[in-house]
Amino acid sequence: MTSRYGEVYESWRRNPEGFWMDQAEAIDWFTKPETAFDPGLGVYGGWFPDGITNTCYNCLDRHVDGGRGDQAALIYDSPITGAKRTISYAAMLSEVEAFAGALSDKGVGKGDRVVIYMPMVPEAIVAMLACARLGAVHSVVFGGFAASELATRIEDSKAKLIVSASCGIEPGRIVAYKPLLDAAIEQSHHKPEATIVLQREQHRCDLIEGRDFDYAELIAANAGRKVACTPVKATDPLYVLYTSGTTGQPKGVVRDNGGHMAALYWSMHAIYGVKPGEVFWAASDIGWVVGHSYIVYAPLLHGNTTIVFEGKPVGTPDAGTFWRVISEHDVAVLFTAPTAFRAIRKEDPEGSFIGNYDLSGFRALFLAGERADPDTIQWAERMLNVPVIDHWWQTETGWTIAGNPMGLGLLPVKYGSPAVPMPGYDVQVLDDAGHPVPAGTLGNIVVKLPLPPGCLPALWNAEQRFRDAYLTEFPGYYKTADAGFIDDDGYLFIMARTDDIINVAGHRLSTGGMEEAVSGHPDVVECAVIGIADSMKGQIPAGFIVINNTHGRSDEDVEKEVVKLVRDKIGPVAAFKTVMVVKRLPKTRSGKILRATMQKIADGEAWKMPATIDDPGVLDEIAEVLAKRGIARKSD
Ligand code: COA
Ligand code: AMP
Repeated sequence: MTSRYGEVYESWRRNPEGFWMDQAEAIDWFTKPETAFDPGLGVYGGWFPDGITNTCYNCLDRHVDGGRGDQAALIYDSPITGAKRTISYAAMLSEVEAFAGALSDKGVGKGDRVVIYMPMVPEAIVAMLACARLGAVHSVVFGGFAASELATRIEDSKAKLIVSASCGIEPGRIVAYKPLLDAAIEQSHHKPEATIVLQREQHRCDLIEGRDFDYAELIAANAGRKVACTPVKATDPLYVLYTSGTTGQPKGVVRDNGGHMAALYWSMHAIYGVKPGEVFWAASDIGWVVGHSYIVYAPLLHGNTTIVFEGKPVGTPDAGTFWRVISEHDVAVLFTAPTAFRAIRKEDPEGSFIGNYDLSGFRALFLAGERADPDTIQWAERMLNVPVIDHWWQTETGWTIAGNPMGLGLLPVKYGSPAVPMPGYDVQVLDDAGHPVPAGTLGNIVVKLPLPPGCLPALWNAEQRFRDAYLTEFPGYYKTADAGFIDDDGYLFIMARTDDIINVAGHRLSTGGMEEAVSGHPDVVECAVIGIADSMKGQIPAGFIVINNTHGRSDEDVEKEVVKLVRDKIGPVAAFKTVMVVKRLPKTRSGKILRATMQKIADGEAWKMPATIDDPGVLDEIAEVLAKRGIARKSD
């Protein structure tokens, strides 16, 4: 099949507003928009400003009304607990209505924020959709974050209520959520009025009388209740998702209702090439943007069945789990991060589990969240015999910036490239002074404003930060903070971040945020955290600390304390396990720490002594310390 990509992209270029008005036809509106885009709204404009709609209605009610009531909306498959459950669209609607009723009884209404801190269980998605139904704004916090990260999000969003669970389950350990939740509420100056807690049989928790309520009791008490969908403006916020910024203070990425639905709906058929009724699986977590967009909203908007998988690619129970889920539930398309495939390959390089399962219905694997190394892509292609498609996007955009659109017909694959920009994105590469660079030249990847529907219109209560972080450096463009190039055929290559964000097992983390945590140790005078290459997780953080006094403890003792501090402050997800005491940090004469050179040394890349270095001997000391840990290599 020849690809229709060129024709579709051109049709968007000729008439961007017409293109998106056509996509908005796929959505049900209380009041259909007559205007596609208002450049005067918000910071750079807003999509479908006069449209009135409701995202929950579009995810559930209209499918039930349209005859999909008995179709599975969700399949919960939890190899870590052994639980499996299929929930139809009709059943999902009833539970969401019951929960929305309970939320509104607790005073939650349009515009109120609700923090959701839950593991991968269907009830988390019920909570998200119930918020959407009421026009309340949810903010899901990933379970692997520590109490203080949760506290920051409660504080910043001024959450009226929190929905949580008694525990999450990780291989080999139960993560009790309630102590983390209680500590976070304690730490936050803003206090929620109530919490609703799902009691899981693996580990029940105590509830505080008058503040904490039992999820199951509320559902039972509200069973059968009808709760109407609250009409909201297309431009009203659906959710806030906090993501790592360049400081310890995360950025609250805001998502709207109308543009988000139009973009996600289009992506399901044009990018992922699925039809309503088919099973779509995003093996991620609802705490990340991939989970928001492709576990919850896009598949449900499009009338697909979504898989809610509570497990890991390996160890639950083995490296064949993904193939079991695909064959058992007839998954058409899987979306995950390359790290999951690297983990599977490490355990089962020959793909010996694959032959045990019937994968005949499986059509494509999509990878995103971090760079997809050609080796991993080619291994997956050989093992699965289906297209393996890299696509590039960010929490901020909510859906693909560049990809290879399966539904429009695949373009030739170039390994190492996520292919071409999607309609809506005019992607350009600029030098540091803001001038376009020739094809093949590395530079700052930017998107010409306005961003398409679905992308962030704002940061939560942080307009100036929004401008500073994304819009000021290259006027008229959105700065992606990724560096790369576009080749002669228009294919994009994403090479590196231009800020301090690192990607650890597909999880986005800020080394600046980790440095803030490390500096909190009383004996640490100075520190630097860099991301170093890791064959499974892509990158892992490594810390270098200068300490003033060990008070009789060994360097190793202090290193252990620092590791614990980061785990307690940021959470296990930071995977911060490597810390080295050094005498000094390498700096320029103006005092800037040479993190990029340290990273090159650690990764065994060629590096040159920076001309501006204050004392060249310090880099040799760093290389020695790294070599002792089996990390560093030699300079050229
Ligand atoms: N709640 C509590 N703790 C969590 C958690 C959660 N929801 N998710 C992860 N953690 C903990 C883990 O238990 C681990 O703790 P440990 O240091 O005690 O071992 C730590 O956070 C790091 O977790 P993770 O990044 O999952 O690493 P891992 O070594 O346990 O597993 C992979 C590695 C590759 C198997 C795993 O990262 C994975 O499945 N990745 C898939 C990609 C993905 O989901 N990407 C998201 C964006 S698409
Ligand atoms: P997140 O906001 O967690 O989705 O992380 C976004 C960042 O992950 C991007 O800015 C990139 O640096 C990186 N990223 C995501 N997808 C890809 C990809 N397909 N190729 C290279 N980098 C990617």
